[in-house]
Amino acid sequence: MEYIINSVMNVVVPPASMVMMAFAWPTLSVLRAAEWAVRTFFQEDMENKVVLITGASSAVGEQIAYEYARRKANLVLVARREHRLFGIRENARILGARQVLVIAADVVKEDDCRRFVSDTISYFGELNHLVNTASLGHSFYFEDALDTSIFPHLMDINFWGNVYPTYAALPYLRQSRGRVVVNASIESWLPMPRMGLYAAAKAAVINFYDTLRYEVKDDVGITLATHGWIGGDMSRGKFMLEEGSEMQWREEREGSCTSGHVVEFARMMVAGACRGDSYVKYPTWYDIFLLYRVFVPDVLGWTFRLLLSSPGPRRHALLPDTNSGGSRPLLEGPPVRKPASTSPRKAERES
Ligand SMILES: NC(=O)c1ccc[n+]([C@@H]2O[C@H](COP(=O)([O-])OP(=O)(O)OC[C@H]3O[C@@H](n4cnc5c(N)ncnc54)[C@H](OP(=O)(O)O)[C@@H]3O)[C@@H](O)[C@H]2O)c1
Repeated sequence: MEYIINSVMNVVVPPASMVMMAFAWPTLSVLRAAEWAVRTFFQEDMENKVVLITGASSAVGEQIAYEYARRKANLVLVARREHRLFGIRENARILGARQVLVIAADVVKEDDCRRFVSDTISYFGELNHLVNTASLGHSFYFEDALDTSIFPHLMDINFWGNVYPTYAALPYLRQSRGRVVVNASIESWLPMPRMGLYAAAKAAVINFYDTLRYEVKDDVGITLATHGWIGGDMSRGKFMLEEGSEMQWREEREGSCTSGHVVEFARMMVAGACRGDSYVKYPTWYDIFLLYRVFVPDVLGWTFRLLLSSPGPRRHALLPDTNSGGSRPLLEGPPVRKPASTSPRKAERES
């Protein structure tokens, strides 16, 4: 019986839905445009409001801090590299931020998250926006990873590093009817070779916040940003784990990233958050790939295979560092030693 019902539904539901959407889409678009115009006009005034930004020590987080500074907000800047946050605090003050608090913390540690939220409340008495930017990017073939200890770190920072701050901040955001602003990524729905764990964590982030959205209802707003490549430290191959154990390409990470895309994206994201947008996308033309995913996924597969997965120089591979005996990611070049077991697919790529 169930088989018959599903067979009928398979035939009836897709075309019926298409017809329904063909009628609903124009009407909804007009309504959405009108709503957008109203929200733009009555957007949230951030003057003297309190904004906590994790991952504020570089690229997107830094530029988001400057955007809120221009709106005269009070800022709480969180990251592990405290020395960078001090410089950013000075810039933010010049741009118009009211008071700026710097807190060195690790978003993977729940206690740290509770501490920076409670310090914020002790100092400012309220919290209006929580912006989650902390993240760790990677670019390596899954099979090339010889040190699996990096795997949980990638999930910890990219997933739990969003969840813990949100959990600690939610009671205060409810009080202020505030907002969580989250940096996800296009990889959350558009799989890219060499970014498997990052993409998986980002997909989890999207699903988590889209679910939370229903739970918090209108009490707390949620703005999810799914952007494509915009530059930043992620392009510089940095990996930083526990203090003392890994600090790669430190000198490369110390530069300030002010590339056009990052600045433009930060401006767009803060504007979207203040307007109360549920989603912010940059660039928006990537949306077309949604249709490819649904209707012609093979085309995406072929393209990736052609463009990205073809044999060529690897970017970052997690390979053992024979000098130190430990493991570290490599930026370019061949492995320092061959792995003990080489899979046929990997051997094929390396030949
Ligand atoms: N850049 C892009 O092209 C791009 C594209 C799509 C999505 N995104 C997303 O946008 C967000 C920002 O990207 P980005 O380019 O600005 O990245 P980024 O330059 O690598 O910055 C990551 C930030 O996270 C902080 N961080 C990392 N681990 C942390 C930890 N355990 N505890 C506290 N802070 C931690 C880093 O500061 P410390 O090292 O000082 O702690 C740094 O400030 C990320 O969520 C990323 O996934 C970026």
